[in-house]
Amino acid sequence: MTDKTADRVALVTGGSGGIGRAVAERLAADGLAVAVHYAGNAARAEETAAAITRSGGRAVTVGGDVADEQAMAAAFDATEAAFGGIDVLVNTAGIMPLSPVATLDLADLDRTLRTNVRGAFVVSQLAAARLRPGGAIVNFSTSVTRTRFPSYGAYVASKAAVEGMTPILARELRGRDITVNAVAPGPTATPLFLKGKSEEEIDRIAAMNPAGRLGTPEEIAEAVAFLAGPGRWINGQTLFANGGMA
Ligand SMILES: NC(=O)c1ccc[n+]([C@@H]2O[C@H](COP(=O)([O-])OP(=O)(O)OC[C@H]3O[C@@H](n4cnc5c(N)ncnc54)[C@H](OP(=O)(O)O)[C@@H]3O)[C@@H](O)[C@H]2O)c1
Repeated sequence: MTDKTADRVALVTGGSGGIGRAVAERLAADGLAVAVHYAGNAARAEETAAAITRSGGRAVTVGGDVADEQAMAAAFDATEAAFGGIDVLVNTAGIMPLSPVATLDLADLDRTLRTNVRGAFVVSQLAAARLRPGGAIVNFSTSVTRTRFPSYGAYVASKAAVEGMTPILARELRGRDITVNAVAPGPTATPLFLKGKSEEEIDRIAAMNPAGRLGTPEEIAEAVAFLAGPGRWINGQTLFANGGMA
């Protein structure tokens, strides 16, 4: 039997982050060549690419602000130049400033919308134009769109936009054989989740799902790998990967 993923290529935005790294490594283990994307942290992306190469996979790094269409077009160009095309775009890049709505610094709102919403649109536009048939776009939302925790107003507004846009792009790509889905993780042990939280707060949130623990980046990568590979009949959906929390 031939390996169906042998010539497939993925670009993972936020590959320098906790979930992005796990996604890049998981897709590489599934046989895809991977472009590991970063914004400010090139060294972390290099580490991920080196780990993939050490394990016998193929990886390059590409940089750029996800909301900057020129920088991201260059990242897509570099991925295509390295591997001949792109089949899978996973957009994990994101930020999560927390504040009650009443006192939210509007500069934080702008920054959140720019990275999480404009960024998702920029990479979705590029992916829509360039992905090969049989491809997949996987966006990132959050389970907080269901749990509705206080202080997550700006973040949830940005992720609700991603959840809203995802099925529309799926329908717009009729005839292209490209699926468009979102993964909505629950609390997952990465810098984005852990930053600024006390141990008690982390334990309290971890206890909210039936397993009573945080998710791991590898468990989120499992959901992405399914949507990026065998899950062809799943299209226009948001998959909540949270251990049953919401
Ligand atoms: N961890 C959780 O509990 C959790 C739960 C639900 C949803 N999520 C979602 O999962 C995704 C990944 O989160 P994570 O936990 O892996 O976060 P993380 O470890 O903080 O990583 C965030 C990534 O986003 C990149 N990034 C930030 N701003 C960017 C920009 N303007 N342009 C390009 N890249 C940018 C960062 O790049 P540099 O470091 O190179 O700057 C980094 O690679 C996010 O969309 C997040 O909202 C996470």
